[in-house]
Amino acid sequence: MNQAQATPDATLCPLDVESVRKDFPALHQKVNGRPLVYLDSGASSQKPEQVIDAVQAYERRDHANVHRGVHTLSQRATDAFEGAREKVRSFVNARSVREIVFTRGTTEAINLVAQSYGRSRLASSDEVLVTEMEHHANIVPWQLLCGQTGATLKVVPFDDNGELIMARFKELLSSQTRIVALTHVSNTLGTVNPVHQIIRMAHEAGAVVLIDGAQAVPHSAIDLMALDCDFYAFSGHKLYGPTGIGVLYGREALLDAMPPWQGGGDMIKSVRFSGSTYNDLPYKFEAGTPHIAGAIGLGEAVDYVSKLGMDRIAAHVHKLLDYATAQTERVSGMRVFGNAPGKAGILSFELQGIHAHDLGTILDHEGVAIRTGHHCAMPVMEHYAVPATARATFALYNTRAEIDSLFAAIDKAREIFHT
Ligand code: ALA
Repeated sequence: MNQAQATPDATLCPLDVESVRKDFPALHQKVNGRPLVYLDSGASSQKPEQVIDAVQAYERRDHANVHRGVHTLSQRATDAFEGAREKVRSFVNARSVREIVFTRGTTEAINLVAQSYGRSRLASSDEVLVTEMEHHANIVPWQLLCGQTGATLKVVPFDDNGELIMARFKELLSSQTRIVALTHVSNTLGTVNPVHQIIRMAHEAGAVVLIDGAQAVPHSAIDLMALDCDFYAFSGHKLYGPTGIGVLYGREALLDAMPPWQGGGDMIKSVRFSGSTYNDLPYKFEAGTPHIAGAIGLGEAVDYVSKLGMDRIAAHVHKLLDYATAQTERVSGMRVFGNAPGKAGILSFELQGIHAHDLGTILDHEGVAIRTGHHCAMPVMEHYAVPATARATFALYNTRAEIDSLFAAIDKAREIFHT
């Protein structure tokens, strides 16, 4: 089974969502006079009290710079920061904390790989293979790299169902392919890509594989040792953690051989004007004072979802998606983008005669928060020849009643626009 596939397991004890919701203060408010229905966790999820408290406790009591002081606060901050790294390692089942680099987020992680690994290794005869369903963060860094090295960017298309066309992947993959970079779960279509198969095939062709896991990590358990990819990137703020913190997993041998990306404090062993030597992993890639509070918050978020159980979260979200998908069928003029089997809890759609932005505004008046626009995936919009879609994303704290509110608000929009 694909790791990110949210397959419900009937034997799992269901999430106690009402109790979970009590942990999330932001959910308990009115927006435009209506109870907030937050269906935009794919863009950024809300944080539980546990994460907020952990960050506050650190800021109030333990803050100092990490790896730099012998004094007590610096030791505390370092222990908490490195403790968070170990929590993340265990959560994604990486071999070593040396493989866990803290970054600002998924975007920075991908840029790091493009500029460090890619720039030092690619030449003009080489190719980078991405897919048509990538987020801009997994397209533009490779375009920049290709501009710098003369390498060529190739694109695997998807079909109208939202599934990668694997026959085209096989055709495009060759001995010239040096990097395959693809999303685990599409942020727009919800498609869970067959990453195991792709990683195996790419390795057979001699390419390394980077997986954008931004939407996959909140949806189900990730086992990087089993996945065997070379790089895996994700963000804290879609995993109920803080913004400005993310993770790059890299295979140790690759990270070790890669040159640093950014230079500065903490990433060096020695600095002389005749030349500098660099720190051990993962610090070689963490120049400057890191987002200490962010890492601690992310560690707490990892604890939070681990306690609930990623399998239970996946099963819950899958049920919500099924419930919402069944409702789409009764709404005339509703077109859903992305119908891949086993897709994650992402529902992208358009309503005939209503621009997505108008719909988003009407829904907001009803207290329902969804994302509208191109979702930083313009090639996906181009594929379907639409300027924008509306997107509801489901998270561990969402309920069926909230999906009813979403569809009631959609009905209201249709009344207003007489569609
Ligand atoms: N990448 C985020 C999204 O899909 C912002 O909405």
